[in-house]
Amino acid sequence: MWIFVTRAIPEASLRRLAEAVPEARLDVHRGPDLLSPEQLLDQARGADAIVCTLTDRIDAALLESLTPPLRVVSTFAVGHENIDLEAARRLGVRVANTPGVLTEATAEIAVALLLDAARRVSEGDRFTRAGRFERWDPLAHRGQSVYGRTVGIVGAGRIGLRVAATLRRGFDCEILVHSRRDPFETDAASDWADLGARFATKDELIAAADFVSLHCPLTPETRHWIDADALDRMRDHAILVNTARGAVIEEAALVRALREGAIAGAGLDVFEDEPRLAPGLTELENVVLAPHIGSATHRAREAMGRLCVDAVALELSGRAAPNRLV
Ligand code: NAP
Ligand code: GLV
Repeated sequence: MWIFVTRAIPEASLRRLAEAVPEARLDVHRGPDLLSPEQLLDQARGADAIVCTLTDRIDAALLESLTPPLRVVSTFAVGHENIDLEAARRLGVRVANTPGVLTEATAEIAVALLLDAARRVSEGDRFTRAGRFERWDPLAHRGQSVYGRTVGIVGAGRIGLRVAATLRRGFDCEILVHSRRDPFETDAASDWADLGARFATKDELIAAADFVSLHCPLTPETRHWIDADALDRMRDHAILVNTARGAVIEEAALVRALREGAIAGAGLDVFEDEPRLAPGLTELENVVLAPHIGSATHRAREAMGRLCVDAVALELSGRAAPNRLV
């Protein structure tokens, strides 16, 4: 039996995998360069299981070429738009991800980006480092208070709920929520009700929110959910936060909106063509940029590693992993 791991993940999870499946050969591509699609195909050929990450493209052609013997793909991420689940289902390949264990970590980054963009912290950091802080100034560096404002949450899942709860309980914000299904008709209805949240259509949310935070997966429906038209209809003091996936926003349109003042600011952890950034983005003062660090805490990454490798061990032994997607 052979397990191929496409990136270096926490050593503890690799040890755990080796102990759980002692009969397997374990090969890890330690990088630092990512595998190209051709290298991935070449290096994973013959593997029974692949541990991948969100930077690997696991499409139908790859799955068809590797199956059999491929039986399991386990991704070190909760988002799985890089994996063709329909092809996996058709080929009988089991796929798992890492839901839940990175919810708090990612929610922290969303709130951090929101506070930073609203209160201009990173902008002030650049100003101070540049030696431009010469005196306290009653008129300078004024940003927006977060307390008591209206926050629009897009995607009423685990992370969206955690962000909403933090902003409601910590900052007394009003919560509007938009999702594929009405969250008040799901198992999480009472959680949203406890926050006094209100369901909003896309149009209502975009027009009313002071801050908009994106927490939906990237799907054909959510690609460019925030486009030039949506940015136009947002409030001119609005701040947009994206910890979901870059392509949920039309990034070139966002650069124009930020440059022209159509909205006040943005906090971005994810980008449309990562790690490349849209031209002009880094020249703007009113955007906070983070290198896709939503889950980047020691605790979350260790837990992701455990969940990810446990799914491999379970599925290879013919048992269903609780985090199985297909
Ligand atoms: P989740 O619990 O599945 O929540 C996603 C929510 O989005 C669900 O409520 C889902 O509705 C909703 N949704 C689906 N399609 C939608 C649409 N067309 N319009 C509006 N809402 C829609 O997932 P999660 O754990 O909160 O993670 C959310 C996303 O965050 C992931 O998919 C991933 O892309 C991203 N993420 C990023 C980082 C980072 O490092 N920046 C870390 C973790 C996750 P249904 O219940 O109807 O499906
Ligand atoms: C990170 O972006 C994830 O989806 O886990």
